[in-house]
Amino acid sequence: MKAELMDNVQFIYELALSMLELKSFNVKFKVSNSLRLFELNNVNDFDTLRRRLAYFKKIDGIQTDYSKIVRYNVTKSINQYLTHWIYPYKGKFHPQMIRALLNVIKLRKGDTVLDPFIGSGTTALESQLLGINCIGVDVSPLCVLQSRVKVESMFVLDGIKTLYDDAVKSFSSLKGLHLENSMNYEDFLNSIEDERVRNFYELAKLVAVSDNVRRCRKIIDSFIKNLDLMIRSVEYHRNVVKELDIQLGNVEREMHENWN
Ligand SMILES: C[S@@+](CC[C@H](N)C(=O)[O-])C[C@H]1O[C@@H](n2cnc3c(N)ncnc32)[C@H](O)[C@@H]1O
Repeated sequence: MKAELMDNVQFIYELALSMLELKSFNVKFKVSNSLRLFELNNVNDFDTLRRRLAYFKKIDGIQTDYSKIVRYNVTKSINQYLTHWIYPYKGKFHPQMIRALLNVIKLRKGDTVLDPFIGSGTTALESQLLGINCIGVDVSPLCVLQSRVKVESMFVLDGIKTLYDDAVKSFSSLKGLHLENSMNYEDFLNSIEDERVRNFYELAKLVAVSDNVRRCRKIIDSFIKNLDLMIRSVEYHRNVVKELDIQLGNVEREMHENWN
């Protein structure tokens, strides 16, 4: 049986992790073809490999789940698929590396991972996609907010879409960066009952403010452009779970109980 590396693999540490992934599933292998092709022996559970591996695009000619997941991407960066891209954050893990590490440390479906420095939420989203429960902690409320939005919004997508027009209308009252003029948007946020929908629109505001400050873009244009992309990413998140029949890790419950 053959396994092909993902095309984006280029560093030695990635090759090392790809080997450790296979070892963690007790697969023996030989590497060939300029280190891009692996010959696998004693594969007992082909389906688990296909569904979980992070650094391989095909096993026995069949596409891995990961190679499909990365295509659900509104950005040009292969690492920013699904909701990973939402909010600029300099110190992010590569999600692919986290998926591999979760495999390497032998966390399996139903296990729980604690990330005490959850940052932008990379571990939260990756563990969710592998069916691993996640408890995330961060001293920064912005990190807690973005981590929650990235994994929870798919459960309230319809509620988010219903409020789209109200959000754009109330945000239009913002003048530049004078947030004291944003009363209408704050009123709009306060009127949202579901915390997950409210968090989504809170983060949408912060993404627009960040875009405005860093790139000098007109804030309302940034708001609408990013809001559209955020909604499409959440749709992708929901669609990929359905398409690949992913049994999600229980981040939602854990986060409500532990992330405050
Ligand atoms: C490099 S970032 C982690 C990035 C994360 N791995 C990701 O992929 O986005 C480190 C995080 O640790 C958080 N942090 C630092 N000291 C902390 C503390 N004492 N308790 C909780 N969080 C802390 C920071 O707020 C920051 O978000």
